Amino acid sequence: MFQPILPLVPIKGLDPGRVALGERLFHDTRLSADSTVSCASCHNLKAGGVDGQRFSIGVGGAVGSINAPTVLNSAYNLAQFWDGRAATLEEQAVGPIHNPVEMGATMSQVIGRLEQDADLVARFGRLYTDGLTVANLLDAIATFERSLITVDSRFDRYLRGDQEALSELEVDGYRRFREFGCASCHQGMLVGGNMYQKFGVLGDYFAGRAITTSDLGRYNVTGREEDRHVFKVPSLRNVALTAPYFHDASAMTLEQAVTAMARYQLGRDLSVADTEAIVAFLHTLSGTVPPAKP
Ligand code: HEC
Ligand code: HEC
Repeated sequence: MFQPILPLVPIKGLDPGRVALGERLFHDTRLSADSTVSCASCHNLKAGGVDGQRFSIGVGGAVGSINAPTVLNSAYNLAQFWDGRAATLEEQAVGPIHNPVEMGATMSQVIGRLEQDADLVARFGRLYTDGLTVANLLDAIATFERSLITVDSRFDRYLRGDQEALSELEVDGYRRFREFGCASCHQGMLVGGNMYQKFGVLGDYFAGRAITTSDLGRYNVTGREEDRHVFKVPSLRNVALTAPYFHDASAMTLEQAVTAMARYQLGRDLSVADTEAIVAFLHTLSGTVPPAKP
């Protein structure tokens, strides 16, 4: 049988020293203007890599305008952010540091502060020939993020041939997920993350409400009319852990998200049994990041 979804595989060949340094920096509040916010403030790695908020709270209590996606498995996205405006994880990481409603700092401010930390400077010196620089700071964070692959979900065990890994209901949910056409957009290793699509293919999701800049999606990047309301199809890996859903956090539960997807992307109203089975399947996509090898 053709499988639109592939098991997640770890990224090989990462420098363990840089992964560990990146982990340290990911949790370092000195990357924000007033030293109160770290990457982990909005991407809690113990809670699905998100903050569980509708919109994230940054420095000085500033509230953002778009839901925080997970950093888990983000290395496999075709690009970063809902609108794909950053091509790489390195490029992405500059965004939150500069963003006034996230960390609100400048790179020279951050580097200046980290330069006061002799241990950290020495650590950069051991791992990079040119030591502590902006490029190396971003490299370390991105390298750490590349280690955050949630392997061994129950669904991946099923894909690898373990028929016992899923219940009958979950297998049935996967069948409906394929048959209804969810997998035409949510596919590949990430069950998403490999294409852009309009939100509202078969119905106007945005009808009758005020449109925010965030709602414009990829239009903000390309300025092309056909990219209005086009977003990166999000990965559904670990989706049971990352409520609320959608770029605008309009769905509080997976049931609501699945119902809206069927209606606006597939022009279909699901039965209660359909929704229940698909949601059960989505729960099998949660995996764990294996502990770093020394
Ligand atoms: C104040 C909350 C906040 C902080 C702090 C923050 N982020 Fe984010 N992060 C977000 C939000 C919100 C988005 C989505 C923004 C968008 O798409 O326009 C995001 C998006 C991302 C993405 C893209 C994921 C995807 O699927 O497209 C990555 C990767 C990421 N952040 C990593 C980081 C790193 C690394 C740091 C620290 C340098 C960081 N974030 C700090 C809230 C935050
Ligand atoms: C035409 C492409 C397409 C189809 C078909 C599709 N989706 Fe989506 N899906 C998207 C896009 C695009 C988004 C992001 C929408 C947004 O937030 O702006 C999304 C978001 C989601 C989310 C929320 C993820 C998150 O982290 O916020 C879930 C859950 C989801 N889809 C499940 C499904 C299910 C289940 C089906 C089938 C019933 C389905 N999708 C069909 C494109 C699609």
